Amino acid sequence: MDIGLKFKSITQVMLAVMLSILSLSTLATPWDDKPPEEVVATLDKKFAEGKYSAKGADTCLMCHKKSATVMAIFDGVHGNPNIKDSPMADLQCEACHGPLGNHNKGGKEPMITFGQNSPVPAQKQNSVCMSCHNDDQRIAWKGNHHDNADIPCSSCHQVHVAKDPISDKANEVAICTQCHTQQKADMHKRSSHPLQWQQMVCSDCHNPHGSLNDASLKQMSVNENCYSCHAEKRGPKLWEHAPVTDNCANCHNPHGSVNESMLISKPPQLCQQCHASDGHSSNAYFGNQTNAFTSGNSCMNCHGQVHGSNHPSGKLLQR
Ligand code: HEC
Ligand code: HEC
Ligand code: HEC
Ligand code: HEC
Ligand code: HEC
Ligand code: HEC
Ligand code: HEC
Ligand code: HEC
Ligand code: HEC
Ligand code: HEC
Repeated sequence: MDIGLKFKSITQVMLAVMLSILSLSTLATPWDDKPPEEVVATLDKKFAEGKYSAKGADTCLMCHKKSATVMAIFDGVHGNPNIKDSPMADLQCEACHGPLGNHNKGGKEPMITFGQNSPVPAQKQNSVCMSCHNDDQRIAWKGNHHDNADIPCSSCHQVHVAKDPISDKANEVAICTQCHTQQKADMHKRSSHPLQWQQMVCSDCHNPHGSLNDASLKQMSVNENCYSCHAEKRGPKLWEHAPVTDNCANCHNPHGSVNESMLISKPPQLCQQCHASDGHSSNAYFGNQTNAFTSGNSCMNCHGQVHGSNHPSGKLLQR
């Protein structure tokens, strides 16, 4: 056999395979070329008409059971009819994808779809989920950062699976840092909370569904957040250091830093941001000579109790 010809035919086969993969992944639906507003208007109309199928999931599966993704819902909570209030116990597929209407008539009408590429606006998608999940965990969902940024629930959650990957702490940080690249960079710096080994997760400190506190923290303030694990830093101290009781983030970046102890900058500069005009504190460099101000623990060589002191003569945080 002619080697050239053989190569040619392999290339052709590969091309054919590639083309078929391409056409599979861009499988056109009849409403793909319609403007999103038109698709949404049709969905609204269908929803108002409320023509649900008589046989529920069985109807859908006549056409959709070939998809492994679709079938995987039966391995999870949402596909289990024995779980109280599960979609499968009531409207089944249509509890999430909306009433069938004329969708089965040659696939003419669209269904509600989920994810960032869906023509359905995030808030509408999310209202489907919230119709069952509007509980105290998501009391602050409306108007929180993710809601305002049009993030669908399904950018973090999957339901057509046996177990939602994000519910496993080993996966959470990777999912959050797909979007939060600054925090991803920080957690790999010289000092950080043990996020890169999954010993800690973002949701130890944040409620991803929003909270009434700054930065969607679970606790009332930055300091309350820190005290929940670093209880020994909670006062009151005999001699307090004002920036500590004010906000731990005055000196620390909770996601990590190139400096030791997640400090936002290195002493003496850290201290000099505020203590610029105080005599020796702003004048820490004596020529190029190494001295108590710059070497070792810098200012903390003498002012070691930077978080406050309980010593009767610890006014200057020295003991
Ligand atoms: C008569 C066949 C048929 C029936 C019955 C049917 N569908 Fe479909 N469905 C299709 C076709 C065809 C498409 C468009 C091509 C595709 O994405 O598979 C589609 C698309 C979809 C999509 C959108 C997928 C996407 O990627 O955009 C969803 C969601 C969907 N169907 C859900 C359902 C649900 C839920 C039911 C039952 C209430 C149902 N379908 C019943 C044929 C059917
Ligand atoms: C709890 C809500 C919910 C229920 C119930 C549900 N789905 Fe879905 N469906 C989704 C979400 C969300 C997606 C987007 C992918 C994901 O997150 O898993 C999706 C995706 C799909 C897709 C597109 C999948 C693909 O291949 O890309 C089809 C088709 C579909 N669902 C059909 C069904 C059918 C049929 C049923 C019933 C057997 C059903 N769904 C039940 C929420 C639901
Ligand atoms: C018809 C009601 C209903 C709808 C609609 C619904 N869910 Fe659920 N969901 C449930 C029930 C019931 C459970 C199980 C609760 C339990 O075990 O306490 C559950 C559990 C969950 C869980 C935790 C369990 C797990 O690991 O899967 C997540 C996450 C979740 N749903 C997300 C969603 C998302 C995202 C949507 C929208 C795409 C959605 N749900 C729509 C009823 C619903
Ligand atoms: C930014 C990512 C993210 C988004 C967006 C998100 N979640 Fe979650 N969700 C999580 C994480 C992480 C957990 C597990 C940790 C926890 O319980 O806080 C979780 C847990 C859950 C649970 C199970 C435990 C519980 O809190 O009851 C449900 C149900 C749930 N989410 C529903 C939703 C719904 C509904 C939406 C959309 C309105 C949504 N989530 C949006 C990240 C997210
Ligand atoms: C030890 C607790 C803690 C952990 C773990 C944590 N954060 Fe934070 N995060 C905070 C605090 C405290 C703030 C507020 C900082 C401030 O006010 O300067 C914050 C602020 C934020 C902000 C707002 C922007 C900013 O930097 O001020 C984002 C976004 C954020 N965190 C995302 C994440 C993500 C994603 C993860 C997981 C990779 C994570 N956080 C892990 C405590 C934490
Ligand atoms: C699909 C992208 C995406 C994912 C995934 C995501 N976020 Fe966000 N997050 C955003 C956007 C966009 C904002 C709003 C803009 C901003 O403040 O950065 C935001 C805001 C936040 C804020 C509030 C910041 C502030 O300024 O107060 C926190 C905290 C946060 N996210 C934590 C998380 C956590 C924890 C996870 C994982 C459970 C997560 N995010 C997953 C996109 C995402
Ligand atoms: C959920 C528990 C938890 C919370 C909340 C928490 N931390 Fe931590 N923190 C830890 C753990 C665990 C370590 C690692 C201890 C170790 O490595 O031995 C740590 C270590 C540290 C370190 C030392 C890091 C180093 O490189 O030596 C600093 C500084 C710190 N945390 C500051 C904070 C601040 C500031 C806050 C509030 C914004 C905070 N932590 C909130 C658990 C927590
Ligand atoms: C004025 C700056 C400043 C503020 C504000 C501050 N720290 Fe620190 N922190 C430091 C410095 C400097 C270190 C380096 C180690 C040392 O000398 O104590 C440190 C170290 C730490 C450490 C690791 C070593 C240890 O002492 O356990 C933890 C944990 C910590 N800080 C928690 C906190 C918490 C919690 C708050 C808020 C209540 C806070 N810090 C506020 C400057 C500050
Ligand atoms: C965010 C600003 C800020 C930073 C950063 C800061 N301090 Fe302070 N510090 C203050 C304030 C405010 C006081 C209270 C001054 C007063 O009561 O007159 C204070 C008080 C002190 C005192 C007691 C002096 C007195 O007059 O009571 C010492 C010592 C001190 N700081 C050392 C340090 C050291 C060392 C660092 C670096 C690790 C540092 N400070 C970082 C704001 C800061
Ligand atoms: C060699 C020990 C030593 C070092 C290092 C040192 N201090 Fe001091 N500091 C003192 C002593 C002793 C006092 C009290 C006597 C005085 O007023 O000079 C003092 C007083 C202070 C005061 C109270 C106000 C004042 O000036 O009287 C502040 C604020 C202060 N130091 C900040 C700093 C900062 C910031 C650094 C690092 C740049 C630093 N100190 C480094 C020993 C030290």
